Amino acid sequence: MATMTAPQSDTAALAEQAANLFLQAFGNHPGFRLAHAKGIVCEGTFEATPAAKELTRAAHFNGQLVPVIVRFSNATGVPQIPDNDPNSNPKGMAIAFKLPGGGVTDIVANGQNGFPAGTPADFVDFFGSILTTRPDGPKPTPFEKFLAAHPNTARFLSTPNPQPASFATYAYFANNCFIFVNARGERQAIRYQIVPSAGEQHLDPAVAAAQGPDFLFEELRNRIAKAPVEFRLQVQIAGPTDPTSNATLVWPDDRKKVVLGTVRLTSADPNSAETQKKLFYDPTHLTDGIELSDDPLPAFRAQVYSISIARRLSAK
Ligand code: HEM
Repeated sequence: MATMTAPQSDTAALAEQAANLFLQAFGNHPGFRLAHAKGIVCEGTFEATPAAKELTRAAHFNGQLVPVIVRFSNATGVPQIPDNDPNSNPKGMAIAFKLPGGGVTDIVANGQNGFPAGTPADFVDFFGSILTTRPDGPKPTPFEKFLAAHPNTARFLSTPNPQPASFATYAYFANNCFIFVNARGERQAIRYQIVPSAGEQHLDPAVAAAQGPDFLFEELRNRIAKAPVEFRLQVQIAGPTDPTSNATLVWPDDRKKVVLGTVRLTSADPNSAETQKKLFYDPTHLTDGIELSDDPLPAFRAQVYSISIARRLSAK
C-alpha cells in the first residue's frame, strides 16, 4: 500500500494507444466520450453515516448533506448502443460530490467487481488482443494467447456480467484501491461499492432482448419522477495481505465493509445530452483524506480520460 505510482511520462504513450484502441473498436463519434458514451445525468444528495468520518477526514464524509451529480452510462464508445446489448454491460455510475468548502471529488464505478487488466500495459495488450482476433484466424488467437499468459484476466472474465433490470437495481464497484486517511492520520486501503437500496434485479437474456433500445434510460426517468432513487455507498477494507495494486484480484467478500452513507437521487436532468458533455469525471479527482494507492490504474485512467475530454470539447 505504498503511494508510489509510475511517472505519468512512462504511461503517456500507452494512454495514446488506449485512446486509439477505443476509436478503432467503437468508431469516431465527435462530441461523445471514447468510453461510456451513452449516459444520463441525475441530481441529488449524499449524507454520510457517523462511521464514515472514523475512516476518512474527507469533507463530504463528515456528515453534512452535500449535493451530488451522478451520471449513469452504458459501456462502449457507441452513443446509440441499445441498453439491452450485452456489450453495453457493465453499466457505469459516476458520482461527483460537491465539497462543502468548494471543489469536487469523484467516484467512477461500473457494474463489475474487478477489472480485466491490472496495469496500463496489460490493458492495452488485452484490448489490442481482442481487436486483432479474427474468428477464422490461426489458433491460438491473440486473445487466447493473452488469456493464457494472464490467468487473473481469464478468471475475471468467467464472472457473470448480467443485464440489469434498472440502473437503480444494479450494484457498482470502483474496483481500484484508494487510501483513506482519518483525522488521526490512520490509513486504510479501501475499495468502494455502491449498493442499490431497491435491491439487485437482473433480467434473463430473453426478457432483456424483448426491451426497447432505451428502456433503461426511460425506466430511470419514470422511476425518479415518482420517488427518489437511493444507493448505499460502502467501502470494503483490505485485509493485511490483500493486493492493493491489482484490480483483477477481487478481495474476499468476507472482508470488513463500512457503510459510508446514502446517495439519494431526486431528479434526472432534462438536458442530459448537453450537460454530460461538460461533466468530467475522473477517479483521481480526490480530496484531503483520500489518496491514490499503489494501484497504477487511476493515474493511467486519468490520462486516457483527459484525451477523451479534449476530443469531446473540440468535437473531434
Ligand atoms: C485502464 C483502464 C481504463 C481505461 C483506459 C478507461 C477509459 C475510459 C475513458 C476514455 C472514458 C471516457 C472519459 C470521458 O471522456 O469523460 C471512460 C469513462 C468511464 N469509465 Fe473508464 N477506463 C478504464 C477503467 C475503468 C474502470 C476500472 C472503471 C470502473 C470501475 C471505469 C468506469 C468508467 C465509467 C463509469 C466511465 C463514464 C464516466 C462518466 O460518466 O463520465 N473505467 N473510461
